[in-house]
Amino acid sequence: MPDLSPDGARIDGARIDGARIEAARVLAGEPAAAALLAQAQAKMQALPIVPKLVVVRIGDDPASVYYTRMKARRAKKLGMASGLHELPSDVSETAVLELVASLNHDPLVSGILVQLPFPKTSAVSQAKVLAAIDPAKDVDGLHVANTGRLWADEPGLLPCTPAGVMALLAHYGIAVAGQHVVIVGRSHLVGKPLAGLMLRANATVTIAHSRTPDLAATVRQADVVVAAVGRPWLITAAMVRPGAVVVDVGINRVPDPDGGEDGKLVGDVHPEVAMVASALSPVPGGVGVMTVAQLLYNTVLAAEQQHQL
Ligand code: GUN
Repeated sequence: MPDLSPDGARIDGARIDGARIEAARVLAGEPAAAALLAQAQAKMQALPIVPKLVVVRIGDDPASVYYTRMKARRAKKLGMASGLHELPSDVSETAVLELVASLNHDPLVSGILVQLPFPKTSAVSQAKVLAAIDPAKDVDGLHVANTGRLWADEPGLLPCTPAGVMALLAHYGIAVAGQHVVIVGRSHLVGKPLAGLMLRANATVTIAHSRTPDLAATVRQADVVVAAVGRPWLITAAMVRPGAVVVDVGINRVPDPDGGEDGKLVGDVHPEVAMVASALSPVPGGVGVMTVAQLLYNTVLAAEQQHQL
């Protein structure tokens, strides 16, 4: 495993099977996220109001607690107003729907994000809650109205992680038009909407998933691989065509080999892929920061539309 340097630098001289190759260019999220946040800030300054992002979480799953607090904190850091509703895991569906309705009607609220997934024990329907959010405030882009707009090529709010992946590739000058993009994972949150965005960008798109008979052969066809399944190190070097671009959306907590109590974060892509790919996004420090930047960008877009700018 080479020592990967930040922000797209190349490290030469790595050896694999005796052949001299270059390690992958690192698609670091921070500089791309900073560029997106700078755009958000510029737009924000032209607004007659301060946009407000409200984040809702049910239960106290440690990863969800971390992500929701970070989202609210990052909003504040950018100069937005923010709110965080931390609801108990046994909260009733009625209470959640009433909260969403009150946020929909609150003119000071520009964007609403309800963190997923809900706790396994929760009786609250994810589908009902997502459907209750005003599509104009759906900064997560998960309401079916926004899903429909995405597939109909109409303007709407885009899901944050897929839009963040597109912004990350664009930041590093990687064009997908005419490329074969293989997306591993078919979730509502990432795989399916990303396929729509890749099509919009004129890529040839394949979605592979758990029932794909020969995943390795499918992934090997790709010019660009996006892994979004939540399985640690599922994508190995043998599955990647030399020179392909690989984007790792996975965030998996595994036991820390150094004995750390909180475990260690790893992606869906094995680090050895850096020896084969021409470019690879790291975990952490890749797509994750793009998701949050895109959420804040979406909140500014929502505020713009609400104030008809
Ligand atoms: N859980 C993991 N990623 C996301 C996301 O982008 N939005 C929401 N609402 N929940 C998530």
